[in-house]
Amino acid sequence: MDSNQIRKAADMILNAGRIVVFTGAGISTESGIPDFRSPGGIWSQYNQDDLTYQKFMSAERYRKLYWEYDKARYPAMRDAKPNDAHLAVVQIEKMGKLKALITQNIDGLHYRAGSNPHRIYELHGTVIEVTCLKCHERWPREEITDRMERENIDVPYCDKCGGPLKCATIAFGQSLPSDVLEAAIDHAQQCDLFLTIGSSLVVQPASMLPLQAKRAGAELVLVNLSTTPYDAMMDLIVRGPAAKVMSDIMGAISEKT
Ligand code: APR
Repeated sequence: MDSNQIRKAADMILNAGRIVVFTGAGISTESGIPDFRSPGGIWSQYNQDDLTYQKFMSAERYRKLYWEYDKARYPAMRDAKPNDAHLAVVQIEKMGKLKALITQNIDGLHYRAGSNPHRIYELHGTVIEVTCLKCHERWPREEITDRMERENIDVPYCDKCGGPLKCATIAFGQSLPSDVLEAAIDHAQQCDLFLTIGSSLVVQPASMLPLQAKRAGAELVLVNLSTTPYDAMMDLIVRGPAAKVMSDIMGAISEKT
């Protein structure tokens, strides 16, 4: 990344009035949470074909596998602290410019950073709750995992309807919460600047949001380490680590204001 890109990004944020920030796992790697598709990421450690919604619903052994996967990745998320990139998004919100913070992340770090919960749209759910896939009852995660440890259970079931319990994240093959997705699309189509931080932009329908923003007339900025299929339509790409890039952009903004 070079200082001209940092200054240009700062100017684009200052000139914008209705910003949507869109984040992926790359915003949390500097908080110690592995992403999915970087070398050594989650999908190099687990077979994502065994962790689909259909497999989960098909057999106990896949439910056991999913819970093992979920329990293995949870401590890093539970113990993670927001980094400068999460905090930069809070600063943009405090400038009165943030209309929505749309995240593919399930780690809850935007809440812990201090972003306004009413502006956060979690497209892929959250690890801090567990839901029954039959009656849709929800529980705080710890309540279920404590029960699993106490009763030595590998796969929990609903004590109300007997349905299978799963962390409240959206697995491949599972539909996204329609109200959240509709609101996210609406915000993408209303914004004048769409800032993507830390996403490979390969998973639909989330990855179509920048395209929808562009079609509605927004400028697009991408802060990301690797290339994405949407690079060609970005108005600015800052290739670098999100915490440093976003911290430098906010520093450039404070110099101008
Ligand atoms: N700074 C900037 N970019 C980073 C950093 C960093 N510190 N660390 C990683 N990245 C970039 C990577 O280069 C990659 O392009 O972030 C991107 C992360 O991409 P993915 O791992 O594919 O994560 P994401 O885009 O959020 O995946 C979307 O896929 O598996 C599903 O449900 C899962 O929500 C996830 C969805």
